[in-house]
Amino acid sequence: MSGDLARSYHDRTTHTWRSVRSSGHQLDWTNQPLPFKLYPDLPALPLPVDLGETDWPAIDALSGEPPPNRRAFDRSRLAALLFYTAGVTRRWGRGDRELNFRAASSAGALYPIETYVVVRDLGEGLPAGVYHFEPIEFALRRLREGDHRADLAAAAADGGVAHAPVTVVFTGIPWRSMWKYRLRGYRHLFWDAGAMLANVLAVTTGMGEPARVLTGFVDARVTHLLGLDEDEEVPLALVPVGVGDAQPARAIPPPDDLPHRTVPVAPRRTHVPEVFATHRVGDLPDGGAVERWRATMQDLRMEPATPRRPPPLVAAYDTVEEVILRRGATRRYARARVPAPALTWPLSVLAQDIAADFVLPGDSLLAHHVIVHAVEHVPSGAYRWLPDGLDLERPGSFRGEATQLCLEQPLGGESAYTILHTADLQRILDKGGERAYRAVQLEGGIALGRAQLAAFTLGLGATGLTFYDEDVTRFLGAPAEPVCVTSVGVPAYRSRRGRRPSDSPAPPLLR
Ligand SMILES: Cc1cc2nc3c(=O)[nH]c(=O)nc-3n(C[C@H](O)[C@H](O)[C@H](O)COP(=O)(O)O)c2cc1C
Repeated sequence: MSGDLARSYHDRTTHTWRSVRSSGHQLDWTNQPLPFKLYPDLPALPLPVDLGETDWPAIDALSGEPPPNRRAFDRSRLAALLFYTAGVTRRWGRGDRELNFRAASSAGALYPIETYVVVRDLGEGLPAGVYHFEPIEFALRRLREGDHRADLAAAAADGGVAHAPVTVVFTGIPWRSMWKYRLRGYRHLFWDAGAMLANVLAVTTGMGEPARVLTGFVDARVTHLLGLDEDEEVPLALVPVGVGDAQPARAIPPPDDLPHRTVPVAPRRTHVPEVFATHRVGDLPDGGAVERWRATMQDLRMEPATPRRPPPLVAAYDTVEEVILRRGATRRYARARVPAPALTWPLSVLAQDIAADFVLPGDSLLAHHVIVHAVEHVPSGAYRWLPDGLDLERPGSFRGEATQLCLEQPLGGESAYTILHTADLQRILDKGGERAYRAVQLEGGIALGRAQLAAFTLGLGATGLTFYDEDVTRFLGAPAEPVCVTSVGVPAYRSRRGRRPSDSPAPPLLR
């Protein structure tokens, strides 16, 4: 296997001091993408605003500890899962500009990820089918009737998908992030999807429902099942959720082409062949290829994940849902010191293993380094996070360097600490091939999302940050290449809490 195209894409999209200054890129407001997908001919099927939330503390859920009991996975549970993954938690409007902030962070608030569910009959007016989730109206639209879980299971080469009551499918619309970030925008698909996955994993743990992240699947089959325009939108990850039915879904005849019309992503053409070529070269043609790729990835054994540990004894009782409502990218830090568990617990959360097809339990593709600026009893310096704790790599105060590494943004240097999520990218690509690029970037987004949730659980703030790739590698030493960066600290202001759908009526879009 070789990941030459992914490597070449990656190298062409690194940020350097020079590339940032010489880009000359300006936002073309006449071709601004719509941040949500609309099916004008399909009726909205509103989801219940009375969400089936958990009463399990986020601190336990994020530590990997589920509640002792679980209730049936029904329509209100699905509504909660979708809202706290992809829902609109804050609305902001000024003049004719309107922003709908979501449950998970998204660079530039561009929201390139779409969410679909493939479900069995969940009762209460939600029959089996393939549905698209529309976050603004908080509604589903049925794309296909019938139980298509067997088809999706075949596409994923994963029998569990035919048993799970629901599989959430995340797709990416490259133009939405490329409009601002150009070619580098392709990386953002995985980072933003990863941040959403962090929410899925936390909410499902709080519900006591199993969930697994599948990144290997037959792309063409998933594209066909969802009826995606292959020049606009690509499938990224599948997440079967819930305790499986004893009997798998029965196979049904292959689905027809879908006729549904959608509103264009942007006024003018938005297909960028270069990015689609980079993506497609990682496509898997059949179930056998999916199984082989998974086996190769699981053989990699790149890094040890951090074992699950009981949460620290701190007064943090909010549920995952409350934490997600409070979450918002921190815009300014107070430069205040935080206690040591406010460093070590978020690190142990974000470095926990993920139930995913690209790693074995206990493994990870990523290594995590942290630049400590202001943590009680932890001298300032650059550390590597290891399963049993912090390992000092470079003592010293690096506020200036951290600002510099994060594209000169003070959010990197004024935090209490800034985490550099890295990978030995070349080794992963050499072994795992082109497809492995997607898994690495996605795991980076999950780490970023988990770090944010853990920070907000403790009453701190956090934000994802962009970075100068090569400078980070120079700072840490090869072969560490940055995948994502998250800074954590005490916010310098009180932010507004998000709202549930029952608190803020959905605006009419197409109804
Ligand atoms: C991968 C990623 C990179 C980000 N990079 C930056 C950044 O460099 N600077 C910044 O101020 N915010 C950054 N953000 C934060 C986003 O701007 C923020 O998530 C978005 O505006 C949505 O707002 P919210 O997180 O408060 O919901 C990043 C977020 C993500 C997920």
